[in-house]
Amino acid sequence: MLPEIKIIKTENPKAKPTDESTLGFGKTFSDHMFMIEYDEGQGWHDARIVPYGPIPLYPAAPVLHYAQEIFEGLKAYRRTDGNGIQLFRPEENAKRMNNSAERMCMPTLDVDYQVAAMKALVKVEEEWVPHRPGTSLYLRPTMIATGNELGVHPSKHYLYYIICAPSGAYYKNGMAPVRIRIEDRYVRAVRGGIGACKTGGNYAASLKAGAEAAKDGFDQVLWLDGRENRYVQEVGAMNMMFVIDGKLMTAPIEDCILPGITRKSIMQLAADKGMIVEERPIDIAEIFEAYEKGTLTEAFGTGTAAVISPVGEMCYKDRSMKLSGGKIGPVAQAMYDTLVGIQTGAVEDPYNWTTPV
Ligand code: PLP
Ligand code: COI
Repeated sequence: MLPEIKIIKTENPKAKPTDESTLGFGKTFSDHMFMIEYDEGQGWHDARIVPYGPIPLYPAAPVLHYAQEIFEGLKAYRRTDGNGIQLFRPEENAKRMNNSAERMCMPTLDVDYQVAAMKALVKVEEEWVPHRPGTSLYLRPTMIATGNELGVHPSKHYLYYIICAPSGAYYKNGMAPVRIRIEDRYVRAVRGGIGACKTGGNYAASLKAGAEAAKDGFDQVLWLDGRENRYVQEVGAMNMMFVIDGKLMTAPIEDCILPGITRKSIMQLAADKGMIVEERPIDIAEIFEAYEKGTLTEAFGTGTAAVISPVGEMCYKDRSMKLSGGKIGPVAQAMYDTLVGIQTGAVEDPYNWTTPV
């Protein structure tokens, strides 16, 4: 039996952001967080919603040394018709959390229980869900290995928590097309590794390439496969889609790419709008060839934080591809409108993707 969630409310609520146009991503946090602990032999216990604040950890906690950590990202949206707040496909995030847990030798937590915890927290934080179009309350479920020993083996103690950040656009220029460097030196993921898992180490490993790209004026890095440095994988915080010959193309997950929930949703929306959707290995040479023939008409990233992010330019070594005249292309725009419409209740949800809080 999983424990009931105790609620202890803060006596010092913070002021909510007054200017929702400057929220950005993950800079302010709401008043409360959900927490539940796990100890080997006892299972999950002590579920609670408590005031947001620092977490006590032993300096020897395995998360700090061996990065036994996983996380998720999803959003709560205020419906445009004023009919409450809803989550977008939260059970998909809970399932992916459990897949990441399996790969990182961490305990799983029942999917329905995770969703119930998300809903209970958002209910407490209802007033923290921003109102302005394009904003939402970003939820960050996280699991870390706690405990107090330095042996390299799976921990016997864990903390799962959820924090909330009222958020706007992920990129500082909002929906303006991004400039992407196709990375030719560093790699993010290899077959048999942890690329398909939402774990901190993947992001730590990406920082150097990201920082070098930023110095050269790029917003993000597009990763190629780790063996041949040839096949497209994904971008730092997004999956990648290309429109070639009117078809929507994206790379297969295998065990290198994060199985994005936005990716899966867009593939379904595109197919239902009559587009051919191809999920197959994409050689970077094929992208250049399509660009030169004029059949590559759009590229865009998909992700919870970034939503749909059009690509204005992609550079590989000394070659550059300029796309969509520096504007959002028609496919990206249509996908954005339908997806955000469903997320906010402005467009009917025939898929049952939304869950009221
Ligand atoms: N790829 C990476 C590496 C990510 O961090 C994210 C963000 O979660 C995604 C892809 C997109 O996944 P989703 O659409 O589930 O947010
Ligand atoms: C998300 O889109 O939810 C993410 O987790 C991306 C993040 C790494 C900023």
